[in-house]
Amino acid sequence: MSRDTFYVTTPIYYVNARPHIGHAYTNIVADALARRARLLGKDTIFLTGTDENAQKNVEAAEKAGKPVQAYVDEMSAIWRQTFDSLGFTHTDFIRTTEPRHIAGVNTFVKAVWDKGDIYKGSYTGLYCVGCEQFYKEADLINGVCPVHKTAPNQITEENYFFKLSAYREKLLTYICEHPDFIQPTARRTEVVSYIEKFMEDVSITRQSMQWGIPLPQDPTQAIYVWFDALVNYLTGVGYGTDEAQFQKYWPAQLHLVGKDIIKFHCALWPAMLMSAGLPLPERVFAHGYFTVDGEKMSKSLGNVVDPVAIAEKYGMDALRYYLLREIPFGEDGDFSEVRLRERFAGELANGVGNLTARVLGMAEKYCDAKVPASDAVLPAVQAAVEKAWKESDAAWDTLALHHALGSAWELIAVLDKTVNDEAPWKLEKENPARIPEVLYSLLEGVRHVAWLVWPVIPTAAEGMLERLGELDRARNMGMQEARAWGTLPAGQTIRKGEPLFPRLEE
Ligand code: MSP
Repeated sequence: MSRDTFYVTTPIYYVNARPHIGHAYTNIVADALARRARLLGKDTIFLTGTDENAQKNVEAAEKAGKPVQAYVDEMSAIWRQTFDSLGFTHTDFIRTTEPRHIAGVNTFVKAVWDKGDIYKGSYTGLYCVGCEQFYKEADLINGVCPVHKTAPNQITEENYFFKLSAYREKLLTYICEHPDFIQPTARRTEVVSYIEKFMEDVSITRQSMQWGIPLPQDPTQAIYVWFDALVNYLTGVGYGTDEAQFQKYWPAQLHLVGKDIIKFHCALWPAMLMSAGLPLPERVFAHGYFTVDGEKMSKSLGNVVDPVAIAEKYGMDALRYYLLREIPFGEDGDFSEVRLRERFAGELANGVGNLTARVLGMAEKYCDAKVPASDAVLPAVQAAVEKAWKESDAAWDTLALHHALGSAWELIAVLDKTVNDEAPWKLEKENPARIPEVLYSLLEGVRHVAWLVWPVIPTAAEGMLERLGELDRARNMGMQEARAWGTLPAGQTIRKGEPLFPRLEE
C-alpha cells in the first residue's frame, strides 16, 4: 500500500442463487482489508455487486416463472441486503444492468474495437451454462462438464472474437516482470501454463440472445457475460462516466477472487486492459474453496451454509475471526461449526474477552477505575507489543491474515502471563507501589490488542476501546499514531463492563 488510495474488489456474484458462506468469505476478507486501509488513513474504495447479464440468471428466472428483469432486481436486492446485514463496509454495490455500467462497457468495447482486436468468425463449441464458458471435448470428463457434471450444449454461431492469443507474449512478459501480480505462487504457475499451452482467441458475443448488453457495433449480438462482467472493476470507479474518479482510483490495488475464476482474471482481463490501453490491477489474489464438514457444499446435499444464520447465532465477529484464523488465506478450507465453537470458547471468550475483563476489572479495583499514572513500564510487555505490530504488518502486506491474527494472539498470551506472574491481587498487599506500572502496561497492552484486531473483529475491538475510555480518541487517530507505545492517557476513566464474548450455551 504505497499510494494514499486503496481500491479492493470482490467478484460480482451471479444472482441465480442466494449468498452462501463461500461468497461471504471473499467479502469478509475484502472488508477486513478495507477497514485496515481506512485505519491507515487511505482513501478507500471497496467494490462488490452482482453479475446480472448471464444466461444462468435467465434460466433461473424462467424456473421461478418471473420476467428476467424483475427476477434480477429481486435477487440483487437480496444480495445487497445480505451484505448490509453482515455489516460489510463496501463503498459501492455495482449491478451490471445499471446504466453507468452499460455506458462504461460501450466505451470499453469501442476502445478494443478501434484497436482492431475484435473480428467476426464462426464458432462451434460446447457451452456449459453453469460455468458460462465454452469447453473443448478434451476438457470434459465422460462427456460432461468437470464442474457441473452436466452435458454442455453444442453451439454453432457467428460471433465476434477477441484476439486474446495476440497477447500471449505480452502477458507472459508482464507476469514474469511482476512476480506479485498473481498470488499465491501456485496459481501463478497454473495461469502461466494455461497462457503458454491453451490460450486461444475467445468468442465475446452470443448470437440472438434476448438478455445481455448489445454489442454497439452490431446490436444483433449480445456481449458475452464475462467480457461485460470484468469491466465492472472499471465502471465501478467511473470509467466511461466519471473520468476524474476513474483517474483517481484505477488501477485497483487488489482483486480478490476464488481459484475457479483465475483464468478470467489473470489472462483474459489483463489482455482486455492491454488492448484498451489501460493499466493493469496491482494484484490478483485467489483464495481456495470451502467444503462443509469435509463435504462439497451443494444444494443437493442440503449442507449450504447461510452466513446470516451463523452471524445471528455467534455474532459476526466470531464468524469473521473463525474464517480468517482457521483457513490460511489462499488455501482450501473446511467450514465446521464445531471448530467455530471451539475457537469461540478458546480464543474469543477465554482469550481476548477474558483478558480484557481481567485487566479492566483489576484497574477498577486497584486503580479506582482510572488509567494509573506511571513513569515506569514493564519492558517485556512493551517489547511484545512492538513485536506484534511488526509481525502483523508483514502478515497483512502478504495477505497472510491467519498470521496477522496469530501475532495479536501471541501478544494476548504475553499479557495473560504477565497478569499471572505479577499477580496484582498479591501486589496490593505486598508491594502496592508497583501496581501503577503493572496495570498501566496491561491496559496499554489491551489497547494495542484492540487496534491490532480492529479490522477483523470490529465490534469487539470497539468494545475494548470503549471500555478503555478510548473510543472517541481512537476514531480520530490513525493506526500509525495509535501504534506508538504509551499513548493511553493517565487519569482516563475505564470500566470493566459486560463480557465481550458471552459464553455459548451448550
Ligand atoms: N459472476 C462470476 C464472477 C465475475 S467477476 C467479474 C462468478 N460468480 S459466482 O457467484 O459463481 O462466484 C463468485 C465467487 O464465489 C467466486 O470467486 C467463487 O470462487 C466463490 N465461491 C463459490 N463457491 C465457493 C466455495 N464453496 N468456497 C469458496 N468460494 C466459493 O463466478
